[in-house]
Amino acid sequence: MLTKRLLFAVMFILMLVAGGVQAGGDAAKGAELAAADCADCHGDDGMGDEDNPKIAGLDPAEHIKMLKGYKSGEIPDEDEMMIDSVSGLSDQDMADIAAYYAGLGG
Ligand code: HEC
Repeated sequence: MLTKRLLFAVMFILMLVAGGVQAGGDAAKGAELAAADCADCHGDDGMGDEDNPKIAGLDPAEHIKMLKGYKSGEIPDEDEMMIDSVSGLSDQDMADIAAYYAGLGG
């Protein structure tokens, strides 16, 4: 009886943990989006170059904020380099991409 309850409790906690990871962004999905949409400019590893800022290792919350800022126009995209890439991204896409780049570089 006690063991069964304990098992349920552990399963419940595991579900919460797994759910939390999902909501924070799926890095594997982000890797696909990034390869198609961001790597041309920011590099395969997100390290950037003289024309493009480094985005590897960014804090995910900060990264999402910047992507949303470009999308809404709140962050001026003077060279209009970013707008095409972010205009088609959903909030979930941004979270996935941010999760992917957070794991790179550093
Ligand atoms: C056409 C080239 C290009 C593409 C594609 C591109 N970027 Fe950028 N990105 C830039 C440039 C250049 C800047 C610097 C600001 C500017 O000129 O708009 C920048 C700025 C940024 C910044 C702000 C960095 C900082 O420290 O201020 C982030 C974050 C970013 N890009 C992420 C992304 C992500 C994620 C993608 C894919 C969805 C992407 N970029 C696609 C060229 C690009």
